[in-house]
Amino acid sequence: MIVVPGPSSLELGEKVAQRLGVLAVGVEHKVFPDGEDYLRLMGPVKHEDVAIIQTTSPPADSHLMQLLLLARTTKDFGAHKVVAVVPYLAYARQDKRFLEGEALSIDIIIRFIEAAGIDSLITFEIHAEDILKRFRIPAQSLSAVSVIAGAVKSQGYSGALSLSPDEGRISMAMAGADILGGGYDALDKTRDRHTGEVRIVEKNLPVQGRDVVVFDDVISTGGTLALAVGLAKKCGARRIGVACTHPLLLGKAVERILGAGAQVILGTDSVPGPYGTVSLAPLIAEALQKSDW
Ligand code: R5P
Repeated sequence: MIVVPGPSSLELGEKVAQRLGVLAVGVEHKVFPDGEDYLRLMGPVKHEDVAIIQTTSPPADSHLMQLLLLARTTKDFGAHKVVAVVPYLAYARQDKRFLEGEALSIDIIIRFIEAAGIDSLITFEIHAEDILKRFRIPAQSLSAVSVIAGAVKSQGYSGALSLSPDEGRISMAMAGADILGGGYDALDKTRDRHTGEVRIVEKNLPVQGRDVVVFDDVISTGGTLALAVGLAKKCGARRIGVACTHPLLLGKAVERILGAGAQVILGTDSVPGPYGTVSLAPLIAEALQKSDW
């Protein structure tokens, strides 16, 4: 196997190659004055199984285009099989037509991925498991909870209640509770499809004097997590940590979450940046060593 670290996941790709003890083929990348991407593979891939590591965190469209260009080029130069490791799969949150006339974005992205010659896909904490069934190639979503819960535990949160901000993420809170050991709970969240505004139903959480860790797949604007943290604080929580797989943390998300009362925000290198401190490399290397992709 050969690893190709894409421009959006250079460090992560290098770490995966090191863990696997395989060659990392470099990519020359530049952006033309008109904004178009230029990519060139800097080594041979003929007859090889190739793992392209390329997240599609913002700028999502550019990172997606780089993934497609890389995959097709890798196939053009004779790669045997291409597995795309896309830790954060953009557009997955538009998996339904919530309003009449909306684009079913993720389905369109899936067709592009398949057309680029990608033979299988590995992602993390996909927004809805059902999306995986819409691929005509093998596609799997891994969970990062083991590494993010382990990291938050090492910051003193052993015994904390694991909290999910909505029913959709309850499996993350359950898996977090297996590691933190303080049980789990879930909140009831709704989002206004026109304004994007999030609401959380008030609930009496049994957290007086206890620590809480809120788990989520994605933190985007921080609206969801700020409300969940605020509620935990109102219910008397001692310290509140926030752990997510994809720390997009757009705009004032960090200020909102810390301002609501969180002490710690922790995410993975699915989204490179100051809060993507927990590496997915061990989980990706382990998945690539298995033969089921
Ligand atoms: C939604 O279902 C997701 O699990 C996240 O809770 C959501 O995407 C976070 O978005 P924001 O940070 O903008 O509230």
